Amino acid sequence: MPEPLVYLNGEFLPYADARIPVEDRGMQFADGVYEVVRYYLGRPFRMADHLARLVRSAEGIELPLPPLDLIEQAMNQLVERQGMSEATVYLQITRGPAPRLHGLIDHPTPTVIAIARPASTTRPRPTLRVVTASDDRWARCYLKTTMLLPNALARERARRLGADDAIFLRDGFVMEATSSNVFLVRQGRLLTSPLTNYILAGITRGVVLELAAQIGIPVSEEPIPAHWLYQADEVFLTGTNTELGPIISVDSRSVGTGQPGAIYQRLLEAFDALTRASQPLSVRSG
Ligand SMILES: Cc1ncc(COP(=O)(O)O)c(C=O)c1O
Repeated sequence: MPEPLVYLNGEFLPYADARIPVEDRGMQFADGVYEVVRYYLGRPFRMADHLARLVRSAEGIELPLPPLDLIEQAMNQLVERQGMSEATVYLQITRGPAPRLHGLIDHPTPTVIAIARPASTTRPRPTLRVVTASDDRWARCYLKTTMLLPNALARERARRLGADDAIFLRDGFVMEATSSNVFLVRQGRLLTSPLTNYILAGITRGVVLELAAQIGIPVSEEPIPAHWLYQADEVFLTGTNTELGPIISVDSRSVGTGQPGAIYQRLLEAFDALTRASQPLSVRSG
């Protein structure tokens, strides 16, 4: 596969030509925010929601953003120019280059990077094994910043334990996984942790809540004690890359029947129908 094009500060460059200064604050302080947008059939899925979250993340770290329509066009163009149909676009905006001093800079020149990669829509989704991990991240997990080292280390620990991912627990309650949100089915109800500063407001999480309401599955956003993970009939993850990923074991204990559950299957069908339905190229709300 040829190297992907890179969007860098207004230009579309061959991968090898896309370079940033060594003193970019993204590299030195993880001083940046990001989004990952999925394209289905060449069209962005929930672009408006991703842009709204990007604005919230940027405000949360006092980072001025370039105009949103430029950002949106850059992502769409990457996909169009490379003739992609199924793709994920990674967008990252850092505070840009500056001498390495901790305080924020007055007039930053943000570095904007975007890169599109082909995505696969595997069905059925691969089943997942997860372990639990103590959540040692900071208290602003609702901001989608590039500061992901705790997530990367938790993912690696899971891998070394023979699992695919880790679910973060804080004070005995389920938060989220390293790059996705967590759903449980318990006593016929679909449960997910409420939105707090300790989890990211996943776009896919929101979509699944909408779909559950539409197809009549009772839902509750409520704090989830960790031990419910072991008793649940179903557990699954949601995320832009993961889509809906069925979990078959938690800490080596089988979930439900050890197979993707019925409510999961109904939601995945509804999700597929939605992502395959024709949508306008770009929908912007608010
Ligand atoms: C920590 C974390 N939680 C949840 C999610 C899921 O968010 P989304 O559905 O918007 O991809 C992500 C996605 O990257 C994430 O990194």
